[in-house]
Amino acid sequence: MVDLSVDLCSLHMDNPVVPASGTFGFGYEFKDFYDINILGSFSFKGTTKEPRFGNPTPRIAECTAGMINSVGLQNPGVEHVVNHELPEMKKYFHKKVIANVSGFSVEDYAYTCALLDKEEQVGLLEVNVSCPNVHGGGMSFGTDAKSAAQVTRAVKAVTKKPVFIKLSPNVTDIAEIALACEEAGADGVCLINTLLGMRIDIKSRKPVVANKMGGFSGAAVFPVAVRMVYQVAKACSIPVMGCGGVQSARDVIEMMMAGATAVQVGAANLVDPFACKKIIEALPAECEKLGITAIKDIIGVVD
Ligand code: SIN
Repeated sequence: MVDLSVDLCSLHMDNPVVPASGTFGFGYEFKDFYDINILGSFSFKGTTKEPRFGNPTPRIAECTAGMINSVGLQNPGVEHVVNHELPEMKKYFHKKVIANVSGFSVEDYAYTCALLDKEEQVGLLEVNVSCPNVHGGGMSFGTDAKSAAQVTRAVKAVTKKPVFIKLSPNVTDIAEIALACEEAGADGVCLINTLLGMRIDIKSRKPVVANKMGGFSGAAVFPVAVRMVYQVAKACSIPVMGCGGVQSARDVIEMMMAGATAVQVGAANLVDPFACKKIIEALPAECEKLGITAIKDIIGVVD
């Protein structure tokens, strides 16, 4: 019997598989597909201080081996999340959950994290400084080491829960940003968010998504994610949550060998709502084939 358990700071998980924020709603939307308690945990939709309608439509462009989204952090706002979404989620998910938080100022991040800090079911805060779809916030914090560190310090000051900073791949040196977060007190980092991309409708000669550009994710970005997880895991001593293009149990194993302690599955959930279930079910046999008895033993094994 393969031991799939991992520890992400104080969060003990039965397995390393975590649906990524923005691809799994608040969890209960998936309750009719399968028992979501089989998941290691999940990261709920990026939450901001105020409710947000999101970007104009169309917001999605299909691509070969991936997709572009320009959702624009649509969410009902942190007060609604605390008063309505979390109580509903709690009926169906009985483990600790990951709260993904976005903001437009350092104060926004701190305000939203302070409210979520009071929620018993929140096991970990995932601070998103990497959304490419909004102006004056999101990725602008995650592409500058000083700003990423500033957000980290502000959030750490309002919570005792582990704080993971979700990093952008749209930088020259992701290890530099990760190190700045670590030095500012981050308990871990999550990477990668989406790559800034664009599609053009060649008949209309217009961008496919209304916001012109959006975040590219899906199978095509997996090698980029593995490379960045590897670089950050080698540079930092805090844990890494890997994310980006994961499709299968073998991808989970590969990302853990690169240095990830837990692995998020994103775009795959949008193609197949059973993606995480299939990955979790396939993991023991894939581990056995490779002689792995405890999955935590493979974290960062690659030199
Ligand atoms: C979005 O809501 O635009 C996606 C979130 C993200 O990419 O961080």
